[in-house]
Formats: sequence, C-alpha cells, structure tokens
Amino acid sequence: MCGIIGYTGERSAGPLIMEALRRLEYRGYDSTGLALFDHGSSFFVARAAGKIDQLASRVEGRLPAAAAGIGHTRWATHGAATDANAHPHLDPSGRVAIVHNGIVENYEELRTALLARGRHFASDTDTEVLAHLIADALEAGRDLPAAVRDAVARTTGAYALVAIDRDEPGRLVAVRVGNAGGIVVGRGEREHFVASDLAALLPHTREVAFLEPGELADVRAAAASFCTLAGEPLDRPFEAQTLDPIAAVRGRYKHFMLKEIWEQPDGLLDAVRGRYLLAPAHVALEGFPFDAERVRQFTRVVLIGMGTSWHAAMVGRHYIERLARIPAEVDNAAEFGYRRAILDEHTLVISVSQSGETVDLLAAMEVARRAGCAQLTVCNTPGAQTTRVADGTIYMRMGPEIAVASTKCFTGAMVALHAIALHLGRARGTLDPAEAEAQVAGALHLPAAVGEALLLAPAIEQLAKRYAAYENFLFLGRGLSFPLALEGALKLKEVSYLHAEGYAAGEMKHGPIALIDERMPTVALAPSDELRDKMRSNIQQLKARRGRVVAIVSAGDASLSALADDMLTLPDTDQLLVPFVAAVVMQLLAYYVALERGCDVDQPRNLAKTVTVE
Ligand code: G6P
Repeated sequence: MCGIIGYTGERSAGPLIMEALRRLEYRGYDSTGLALFDHGSSFFVARAAGKIDQLASRVEGRLPAAAAGIGHTRWATHGAATDANAHPHLDPSGRVAIVHNGIVENYEELRTALLARGRHFASDTDTEVLAHLIADALEAGRDLPAAVRDAVARTTGAYALVAIDRDEPGRLVAVRVGNAGGIVVGRGEREHFVASDLAALLPHTREVAFLEPGELADVRAAAASFCTLAGEPLDRPFEAQTLDPIAAVRGRYKHFMLKEIWEQPDGLLDAVRGRYLLAPAHVALEGFPFDAERVRQFTRVVLIGMGTSWHAAMVGRHYIERLARIPAEVDNAAEFGYRRAILDEHTLVISVSQSGETVDLLAAMEVARRAGCAQLTVCNTPGAQTTRVADGTIYMRMGPEIAVASTKCFTGAMVALHAIALHLGRARGTLDPAEAEAQVAGALHLPAAVGEALLLAPAIEQLAKRYAAYENFLFLGRGLSFPLALEGALKLKEVSYLHAEGYAAGEMKHGPIALIDERMPTVALAPSDELRDKMRSNIQQLKARRGRVVAIVSAGDASLSALADDMLTLPDTDQLLVPFVAAVVMQLLAYYVALERGCDVDQPRNLAKTVTVE
C-alpha cells in the first residue's frame, strides 16, 4: 500500500515522477503528491486528494525544472483522504520532505511531545512526526542519513520512507523499517531511482538493489551506498532484473483486469513449459531447495496466504494431500501467528503471494523461521521479500499483475502448487506413476483448457447483464470447488461492491439458506466429480426456496439444465484441474457485473494491490 518514487539525476524529475506515479497508483489511490528541488529556497510541492489525474491537472504547466524529487500515491491509514493528509509531508520550516509507506505505531506519543514543544501539525497523519524528527536531527548538525536513523530510532512500527533535505539537493535517503513496505533502488547512467516496487523503475532501469528490513540507502545521481540502521556500511550489489516492461501496459484491453484474465493461457504456458515433463512423467522445479532425503523427512505441510493467494493455497492443500500424501493444512497468514501452531524442522511451510510483500504473510514467515521450519514460497515478483526469506522460490512466471483484483496470479499460484505437490509426491515415492502421467498431461493441457474457458466470455457478459441488478449473491462449492466459491465471492465483492458470500455447500443448511429467496441468486459450482450429486441436492434445496441458480457444470453434463436458471459449461480437464477453468468463469463474471454497474474495475474503492500494513 502506498507507492513511493524518488529520482536524482540529469533528467527532469517532475514528468518522470508523474509517470512513475501512474505505474504505482495500483498500490493506493486516495491521494497523490510530489516534492521537487527547484533551485529556489524551498521545495516545489503539489498534492491532491483523489487519483493521479487530480494532481496532473493541478501541476499542468507548473512543474519546475528539477533534477531530483520524490512522489507518493497514498492508501490512507491515519487521516482521511484529503489534500492536507496527502504526501509528501514537510517539517514546519520546510527543510525536509518525506514520503512514507506503513505505520508509525507510537506517533501519538511523539506528536504529543512535539505539540508540547509548541510544534504545529499540518495533517492528521502519523507520517508528519517523522518529518519533524528528521528536521530536528539535521538542525542538531547530523547529516541526512544520520538524521533519518535518529528519527527512526525513536519510532516503533514497520514502514518505508524516503527523505530529502532542501539544503542538500540531489540526495535521497531511503529506509526500510521492519517488514512493511519494500524499497528498491535503481541505478541508471548518472542517475538513481528509489521506489516502493519494481514496476515504477522498469521503463528506466533493470539494475536494482532491494533493501532488507533495517537497512538504509543513501542515494545520489552518481552513486548509492547502503548501511544498516545502526550505521554499519553494507555491500549491496546491483542485480539485473529480467521482468518485461511491455507486459505492464494495458494495450487494447479496456482494463488491466480483463487483460490479465486473457493472459492466463500464455502465462500458464510459461508456467508449465520446461517444468512438466513426460516419459517418465515428472516435474523439474528450478528453485526447489530440498533434496529427496529432506523431503522424506517432512511430516506436515502448512500453506499460508492472504486474499486470493489464500484461496489458491486452499486448492494447493488438496494437491499436496492427494498427490504427495503429506498431511497438509492451510491458514490465513494473518491468523497463523495467533494460534501458536506447533511447528518444527520437519514442517514445510509454503507461503503464497503475488507481490511477495504482504505484511501479514511476512510476519507468518517469521514465525515459521523462528520455529526452524523448511520454507518454500510461491511468488510472482522477482526479488520480492518473501523470496529472500524462504529457502527456495517457485516463481509463478505470470508477468506483472497490475489490476488490484488478482486473476492470473490465482491460476499461476495454483499451477505452482500443483507442480510442488507432484514433485513432493515423486520424491517421497507416494505418487502413483499413472496418476503422475495424468497430472502432467493435464497440466500441459491447461493453457488450451483455460483458453477454451475464455470463449465463455460473451455468454458470461450476457449473464452478467441479467444478474447485475441483484445486491446479494451466494457462491457454493464442495471439495476443490469450495475455494473457488470463496474466490468467486471475493472477486465480485472487490470489483462490483456487491455483497457476496462463498460457502462450502455442506454448510449452506447451517445458516446461509435463511437468506435465500428470489432476490438472492446462487452461483453453484457443480463439476462432474464425486461430489456432483451432493451439489445437485443443494441446488434442489435452493430451488425449493425460490432461489435463482447459476450452475457451473462440466462438459457433457446436461443433468442440471431443467433445475438451474442458467448454466455455464466448463471445458474438459482432469478433475483435479477443474479449479483452473472454473477460476476463469468466476473472474469473468465479476468483471462483467462490475462493468455493468459502472464500477472502477482496476482501482476498486478502498482496496490496494499490495497490503503492507497490518
Ligand atoms: C490484496 C490484493 C489481493 C491479494 C492479497 C494478497 O488484498 O488486493 O488481490 O490477493 O492482497 O496479496 P499477495 O500479493 O500476497 O498475493
């Protein structure tokens, strides 16, 4: 949450920062702002509540020539989304300007102390105290890195910030405090960049260095140096990133969400290519860090994630249990730390995250690290924090995901988990060769199957027109379809602001059925697996209560046609791989309902793509 960009070099910083803010807007869009050194005696500062276009119209024709500056796009935590609360924040003398992502937990105490000294505050944010503290340390004779370290030492919380000092044009100091909010430093020709994530830097440089928690970057046009928050110098080499900047452009699609839904066949092709191999059927997993002996010692797998990644982890649990025959459990990462889970070095913890920066997930991984667990992470973002904490990373290979509502990284995470399950099963000798062959063949067919599922788009668009006026939805599924019901409901909530609940179909009679009448339709996932007949009974029960039912069924199954109000038929896949084609239907349904209701699909209200605050 909150996007950060900083630039120092020979180019004009203003337009560059504005362009980077557009790339970062998916991290938060409550307000945007920037501060530039403009060779005068004060910073040029512009801030605006709302999206980047508000700021763009405010600065049009006014951006001064500046060789350095900082910018911010905000997801509000402390203080409403107003101009006054927009970043950058300055100290009262206007010497220091900062942009910040995360939370200063003891800000009230610090603010009270500053108020008692007669200080005034221009905003309701926790951020502003940091500007005061840094300016105080500068006035006491410290240089900018030392002043930032002094200020940080007085705070509690987890955050990232970038500070600039009016008296030292061209110098940026960035810190990462705790696990919330990444900082990546980019190196160019006589120029350097600082950003909350790689997406902002891709058009300019591939040479990057990531800050770890507790580290500081001192950045000038010609060079960047690194140290710990205790001031000890660090040797931090810049590494080349291979992410494709073109992929982060919307192209002919109306929304990133639609583009990313349609990118799934290609993304899945990249994900299976070179990994799923036949004769004999097996999976080659680069990045898998454990040898067969270690794998045989695992007694349990714990999968953790948040949001859509949590739902993918739920599907992964089925794969691990069915294909690798290891007891597996799945937990919401934010809850994981609270239940004092019993963990040891024979527990394999698999974390799932598109961004690799989600703060609750990082906290859960820290719990696992302290317990000595083996750790594998499934991630889509090269070099992200989770990849640096885990023993090994299985990359989703889905390309940058920009829309706030995750789509292609849901299927990307599921296929990575499927591959891990096959790999574990083979290493432990628990995977039947015929099953391995069926699964490898099934996975290799996924790009085609998902491509076929996309052909349902026109039918789903029509369906969405008929259902968009309902205010409440129920999504039901059993077994592998239960996580899909949760994901279908989540997608609809996220992008169309409708009330939708996902339930295990067996649970329906224990409460949700009380809600059913002709005004609450149900999306019933009823593929032709061993649970189909039970789903059929549930659909009967809904119809008996005048509920409208959209049934999602497998190819060749007409048995529900007389019962359901509407039906969508999934393309043929192996039973274990039905979640992939069902996911496409859930995603398209949410997309077209949101479109019909005129919602802002790519930037739904109140949400952010990467959640870096608890
Ligand atoms: C946010 C996003 C979701 C995402 C979740 C977990 O809530 O809006 O789309 O599923 O974070 O993010 P991660 O990057 O860890 O997968």
